[in-house]
Amino acid sequence: MCGIVGYVGSKEALGVLINGLRRLEYRGYDSSGVAVMTADGISVRKAAGKVQALQSLVERDGLPPAATCGIAHTRWATHGAPTQANAHPHLDDSGNFAVVHNGIIENYELLRNRLRQAGHHFASETDSEVIAHLVASFHDGDFATAAGEALRQLQGTFGVVLACAHEPDKLIVARRGSPIVIGIGENEVLVASDVAAIVAHTRRVIYLEDNDIAILSAGSCDIRDLSNVPVDRQMLEVDWDLGAIEKGGCAHYMLKEIQEQPEALHNAIRGRLDHDLGTARLDGLGMTPVELAQVDRMVIAACGTSMHAGMVGEYYFEDLAHLVTEVDQAAEFRYRNPILNPRTLVLVISQSGETADTLAALREAKLKGSHVAALVNVVGSTIAREAGRGIYLHAGPEIGVASTKAFTCQVAVLLMLALKLARSHRMTRDQGAELAAEIERLPEYTRLVLEQAPAIESIAGDLAKARSCFFLGRGLLYPVALEGALKLKEISYIHAEGYHAAELKHGPIALLDKDVPVIALANDLPGKEKMLGNIQECCARRSPIILTATDGDRSCEALTDKIIRIPRSHPLLTPVTTAIALQLLAYHVARARGCEIDQPRNLAKSVTVE
Ligand code: M6R
Repeated sequence: MCGIVGYVGSKEALGVLINGLRRLEYRGYDSSGVAVMTADGISVRKAAGKVQALQSLVERDGLPPAATCGIAHTRWATHGAPTQANAHPHLDDSGNFAVVHNGIIENYELLRNRLRQAGHHFASETDSEVIAHLVASFHDGDFATAAGEALRQLQGTFGVVLACAHEPDKLIVARRGSPIVIGIGENEVLVASDVAAIVAHTRRVIYLEDNDIAILSAGSCDIRDLSNVPVDRQMLEVDWDLGAIEKGGCAHYMLKEIQEQPEALHNAIRGRLDHDLGTARLDGLGMTPVELAQVDRMVIAACGTSMHAGMVGEYYFEDLAHLVTEVDQAAEFRYRNPILNPRTLVLVISQSGETADTLAALREAKLKGSHVAALVNVVGSTIAREAGRGIYLHAGPEIGVASTKAFTCQVAVLLMLALKLARSHRMTRDQGAELAAEIERLPEYTRLVLEQAPAIESIAGDLAKARSCFFLGRGLLYPVALEGALKLKEISYIHAEGYHAAELKHGPIALLDKDVPVIALANDLPGKEKMLGNIQECCARRSPIILTATDGDRSCEALTDKIIRIPRSHPLLTPVTTAIALQLLAYHVARARGCEIDQPRNLAKSVTVE
């Protein structure tokens, strides 16, 4: 969603800001803007569309080159269309106060009406503009005092950076519900909504907490709470470098991230399997053996791809640990008053650690007194910090909007967690050791799937011509069918539905004909015979068939010649290997259709509004 960058230091701010915006492009946006501050005032340029349009505008019109302080923004439209006028930064009437804002100001109409009555004029349809006017209305000589007063009036969510023409070497930053990270460099301070915009300059960062306000200048970062009391926030070192967020010779981030999966899985698993005890070491979980043994129910809350990983986890927890498990769409979780108790372990799963609905589910679970843990990829993210306990994925930064390596690492971590819980309940040491040895082989199996890429690319050609298709799965591969359909639709814009294979004849089969391909997950797993029957039903309606099948299994060859081979492995590993094949399929279909794979239309990498 929206992205923020701010800079105050000794370098020319404009270049730092535009490069920072480019690092945020992956998050999804529809317009952008930049403002720089000099002794002569604030200069703003904004453009609808891509950052490239902003850059061209800046090159054409110029901006004060000597400015060493500025703010910039990529906007994902909520209030008002994606136009130049609605792009950030926004100014007050005097042009002396500028704001960039992520989040939603819920009381903006009330504030705007009040300000209008006091003579303010508004230039945009956004909720954000009201912040600049509000700061101006409180300004009586001191920027920080006015900013604090204005921020206290706001209801809703914000990550915000404010600038003032009267104090052009200072930025004021605050957060409530939208992430803000501050980068501390040599005689320079950066601020952003995502560390990707900062890491080219410094890896020393501070994450703001809700209701923190920071006053930034080139050599200082003074953090206070909303009541102006100084607060101490820990400085962290980002453990990856610029290379991790560059394409490394691949055409797209998505392809790079698909190909990184053997290494990402290796990192997710490394040091976490105890082969002697036949269990997993997941220290971040912070639960004693007694607490683990007392867990009698699992609840998983997540969105999108992370929810599909949770659905795979449901099979693991029930099968291995014999724990009743329920998977909730996180947006639904808190509104249906879930039944939780101190024996329930609630797991929230999120790649970004910033998804608003998942965060709300976490807060609800904490309030109801159950055990809570988070499976998160982004270190230091809001969900990771608020959960306090959990397991990092260690998948490395995921830039492509379509989640790939995060999904497979989530599944691998869920399997290790199920192993740990199973050993706390009924699983024997030998059974545990056997499964641990299989999990260790996961990176090797994923390499074998990646070798299928050329075959998958050739199958993708026909699918790319379809307008609509179905993904069918059963058992462990049912959530993978849902994930395969999600992947295809989000990056190729082909309408794709994921269904349980048995459910097809309860309605959707009415849609099948020669123009509606079916991608069926027919791996050699329990239930395969029934799946083959379901595929026959699709063949009878003349649907073109694409299959995933276990390497060496010839039982499905009569049904189609479009078969993607999945290596034979422990059945519990097949959601990972099969999902990778479907990621490649979606990627090559989208590529054949000439789609913008890394930044699909209307989508954002992390969804920070409900
Ligand atoms: O960061 P999260 O895992 O919480 O994000 C959840 C979903 O928004 C995300 O998985 C989304 O569905 C992806 N675009 C799927 O590729």
